[in-house]
Amino acid sequence: MAALNFSEIAGGGSATSSNTLINLLRGHVGFPSLLLLRWPNTSLLPTRLIEKGSRSVLQHPSIAFPALLYAPDNGDLKLRQNMASWLTTFYQTAPPISDDRIAVTGGASQNLANLLQVFTDPVYTRNVWIVAPAYMLAFRIFDDSGLKLRAVPEDEHGIDIEYLRSEIRKREDEAQSQVGSSEPIKPHRPWSKFYRHVIYAVPTFSNPSFKTMTLERREQLVRLAREYDALIITDDVYDFLQWPASLTAQDLSLDKAILPRIVDVDRYLDGGAEREGADGFGNSVSNGSFSKIAGPGLRTGWCEGTSKLAFGVSQTGSSRSGGAPSQIAATILAEIIASGDLQRHVYEVLQPSYGRRYQKMVTAIEKELIPLGARLPQTDRDVVGGYFVWLTLPSGIESTVVVQRAKEEENVVVAQGEIFEVPGDTKHAGTHFENDIRMCFAWEDEDVLGEGIERLARVIRTLQREQQDGGAQSAQSSMQHATEASAKDFW
Ligand SMILES: Cc1ncc(COP(=O)(O)O)c(C=O)c1O
Repeated sequence: MAALNFSEIAGGGSATSSNTLINLLRGHVGFPSLLLLRWPNTSLLPTRLIEKGSRSVLQHPSIAFPALLYAPDNGDLKLRQNMASWLTTFYQTAPPISDDRIAVTGGASQNLANLLQVFTDPVYTRNVWIVAPAYMLAFRIFDDSGLKLRAVPEDEHGIDIEYLRSEIRKREDEAQSQVGSSEPIKPHRPWSKFYRHVIYAVPTFSNPSFKTMTLERREQLVRLAREYDALIITDDVYDFLQWPASLTAQDLSLDKAILPRIVDVDRYLDGGAEREGADGFGNSVSNGSFSKIAGPGLRTGWCEGTSKLAFGVSQTGSSRSGGAPSQIAATILAEIIASGDLQRHVYEVLQPSYGRRYQKMVTAIEKELIPLGARLPQTDRDVVGGYFVWLTLPSGIESTVVVQRAKEEENVVVAQGEIFEVPGDTKHAGTHFENDIRMCFAWEDEDVLGEGIERLARVIRTLQREQQDGGAQSAQSSMQHATEASAKDFW
C-alpha cells in the first residue's frame, strides 16, 4: 500500500469514528508544513518564566537596548556563558566548556542549514549519511544545499558503523575513478573548511527511533569521521528531557546526562579535536535547541563545536549581515538561565511530566500491544527520554494499514514508519520501515495516552483476526485445490 501523505494522516481526525481524536503524531489541522513538527503540550510552556525574563530584559535599558539591536555574530555573550556553564554541569565535562565553543542559533533546523552553507560544497562534499529512521524535516535542508542523501541503518547499539565504513569507502573509490573535477565550486574562506562527508544523527532519545547510541558507537563514529574527513552533525535536542526507564519510578528528575555527546567524545578521544596535526575544526558539532525545553516559538538554540568551528558558523553570510538570529529571545533566555529558572523548569516540571506520560504510554503498550507481538527497542536501558516511542508492529501488520484504520475506525493518529525513510535510499535492510510506527507522548494529556494505546490494540487485533480469517480461507482454498489436484490425478 502506498504511504499516506501528511494531510491524509493528520488532517482533522476521522469522519467515521465517533471517538474524540487522540493525536499521537501531533498533527496540526490545516497547516501541512506544521503537521509533523513535535509540539509540547501547551500546559508545559513556561509562559510565566518568559514573562519574568522579558520584564527583566525590558526594564533595564542596558539590557533592553542591546536586546533590541543587532546581535554579535556569535550571539548574546550572557547566553553563551550561561549555556557553557549549564552544559558543563549537565554533561560533567572536564575541562569546562568555554563560551567561545558556543554560537547562538535560530534553533537546530536553522543552524543545520548554516552549517551546511559554511562547511559543505555541493561538489566536494560527497554525501550526507543519515541514520535511519531519520528526522524527516531535515531532508529538505540537505536538499537545499544540493547534497546527496544516503541512509545508514542502526541496530540496538546505534548507527551501523561497519555498513557506514564500507559505503563511504565505496563512495571514495567511485569518486577516485570518476572523470571530472571534484574541486569545490564555492570560494575558500579562511574561517571555514569543506568536509568530504557529513554524518547526521540524533544520538540520544532519537526522533524518531527513540534509541540512544552507546558510548562505544559514539567513539567508533568519531574515529571514522576523522579517518574520512567527515563532520558529524548531531541534533542533541532531547538530551535534557530524560528520566529513569522504570515504569514505577517516582522520582523522575535527572540533572546529569547519561552519556557524553559526540561533540564531547570528539573533545577527549585520542588527543581530542584540537590534537597536534589536526586542523582544529574538529569532526563534530552539536545542535542544541530551546524548542523542547522552553518553547519552539522562541526559535532559538545554540551550537557547540571547537572554537574554530563555532567561529566559522558565526561567519555565515546571514549572521554577518545583522548578527546571530533571535537576539531578543536569546537575551530573555540568558536571564532565565542565569536565575536558574529554566533549569528548574526542566528538572522539576518537564522531566516529571514527560516521564509520567511515558510511563502511562509504555505501561499500556506492555499490557495491550506486546502480547500481540509488537516490540519496543532497547528495553534494557536505565534512562529514557525524548518525545516518542518507536514501535515495531506484530509481524505481517503493515504500518500504512494500521495508520489508516486507526484513524478511520478509532480516531487515533500515529506516524507511519515510512515517512522517516531517507528518500531514494530504502533498499538496504534496516532502511525501510513498513512495519513500524512512531508515537508521540508529548502533546496529548497524560490521561488519554492509555486509551490511545487501547484503541490501537483494537485495530491491530482486528487486523490479526482478518489475517487469520483470510489465512484460513486461503488455507481452505489451497486444500480444495490440493484435493481437486489429487482427485484429477486419481481420475
Ligand atoms: C531531531 C530534531 N531536530 C531538530 C528539530 C527542530 O528543532 P528546532 O525547533 O530547534 O529547529 C526537531 C524538532 O522536532 C527534532 O526532533
